[in-house]
Amino acid sequence: MPHNWTEEEIRRVGYHVVDLIAEHLTRLSDEPVFRPVPPELQEHFHSTPAPAAGESPDGILREFRDTIAPFPFGNGHPRFWGWVNSPPSVMGIFGDALAAAMNPSCAGGNHAAIYVERQVVGWFRDLLGLPREAKGLLVSGGSMATLTALAVARHVRCGVNVRADGLRGAEQPFSFYLSAESHGCVRKAIELLGFGSASIRTIPIDDDDRMNVAALDAALAGDRANHVTPIAVVASAGTTNTGAIDDLAAIAGTCRRHQVWLHVDAAYGGPAILADAYVDRLRALAEADSVALDPHKWLFVPVEAGLVFVRDAEAMRSAFSLVPPYLRTDGSLTGVGGPIWFSEFGFQQTRGFRALKVWMAMKEFGLAGYKAAIEANVALAAYLADCVRASSELELMAPPGLSVVCFRVAGRHNEDEGAIAAINRTLLDRLQLGGEAFLSSTELRGRFTLRACIVNYRSTRQDIDQMLSAVRRLARTLRADAHLVGRRAEEDLDEELPLDVVRVGEHPGAEPDEEAEEHHPDEDGHGRGDRRREVRPHRANRLVHEQAEARDHRALRAR
Ligand SMILES: Cc1ncc(COP(=O)(O)O)c(C=O)c1O
Repeated sequence: MPHNWTEEEIRRVGYHVVDLIAEHLTRLSDEPVFRPVPPELQEHFHSTPAPAAGESPDGILREFRDTIAPFPFGNGHPRFWGWVNSPPSVMGIFGDALAAAMNPSCAGGNHAAIYVERQVVGWFRDLLGLPREAKGLLVSGGSMATLTALAVARHVRCGVNVRADGLRGAEQPFSFYLSAESHGCVRKAIELLGFGSASIRTIPIDDDDRMNVAALDAALAGDRANHVTPIAVVASAGTTNTGAIDDLAAIAGTCRRHQVWLHVDAAYGGPAILADAYVDRLRALAEADSVALDPHKWLFVPVEAGLVFVRDAEAMRSAFSLVPPYLRTDGSLTGVGGPIWFSEFGFQQTRGFRALKVWMAMKEFGLAGYKAAIEANVALAAYLADCVRASSELELMAPPGLSVVCFRVAGRHNEDEGAIAAINRTLLDRLQLGGEAFLSSTELRGRFTLRACIVNYRSTRQDIDQMLSAVRRLARTLRADAHLVGRRAEEDLDEELPLDVVRVGEHPGAEPDEEAEEHHPDEDGHGRGDRRREVRPHRANRLVHEQAEARDHRALRAR
């Protein structure tokens, strides 16, 4: 293939790419949410050497269609609610393609991409109520935003010249304050910045999983009294586990009194500032020294797109800039240099044109469209929570926060925590591999739970109903299987079974009318009829499903 493509050839192949995108996006909902890559294909990826010669575009696209497109992560599907991953905005997808076509470096310069990023950053700055002087930067995601923000906090609060001397010159130890519900990226950032995880004070949480502000206050006072230097408090505006929002206003007041940096992780929950029900709780984002917010989560921008804001722009620049002062471009808007370069405010030098997909997605939805999508997701989470409350087979594991619902198949009679966790773990495995719906899991206060995080503008009540009916069906099958295995093991081995296996098997299957009795909070029956639409698991899923079943049987026998 010649490297100088003609316009005609670009159009022909390009239209084919558009066809593939259109097929992928419109057929997703008829496909399993997830299907694992079959072993022979894994082996193919593993063992195929780099192409010795160039291949034809048609062949390349055919290979994409046959071996890559059928095995997605799952997050474009209306019944994907794992982790915090959303479907992509269509204009965001096109934005990514157009950005790649322009292929600028957004380190800086006087080209359009720079002004698009400045505009996008300005939109979010205003949305959060941060002052005009605050500096924002697009980064890869929440982890990089957190690392960037805490690097500035380190620069400002350490009391030593950390750029020249590292932390060696410090006379006393440092400390950070997070709740047990903080995202793991905060700990990673603190470790990476050289403080060590020993510098982390884990502040207790209240019954709603929010940081206990009195305990934070006491920890800060205690450290000051013991000659430990507090660097930063990291509050959550929407925890990953349960969507809990810390009392940001109270924490901001505490930080001011103790003169400590406040970073707020709004990677997931920040966009909920658009929702009427959350605007008050998120208003104090404006008081933070730094904020992380991910457009690639609840704003449906294709990954990767994270945002970091730092209130003190000069501090941010001085933490990262490695341009000698006499070379700095201090706002030469008519020359090649353009505004002060983004690369002076973060770690990356060459930077992609992330802003275009954010800009296009923002224009596609508009603030009103985002508000509607976010409020619809919150309402769907409330609906799911109501269905769980109304079900005798399920239990809610935490009050729903934002769009997260933690629930699980309830234990029966004297089933202990281990047995309940085991049945829910196996069920989750089956659900994910079955391809009908996708949840993830977590632990809340040491208890295993299923977790749905609805950041999905494609999801409807019918999808929730379908997932719930799959969960109930799997639970009944698993209990029936466990009963059978228990019986067979009794016959085969003629010895006493471990207690939990016996207990699981005590109640074989479900009462036939159990599902019919299920009360749905949706009075008009909306969505119930759609159970007929259940997706039949793809052959690959069925295979994995059967393997999983056999494995479960073996595991139960072995206990
Ligand atoms: C609350 C929260 N903060 C930070 C992160 C890390 O963001 P990223 O995965 O974009 O690096 C996540 C990821 O899910 C998150 O949920």
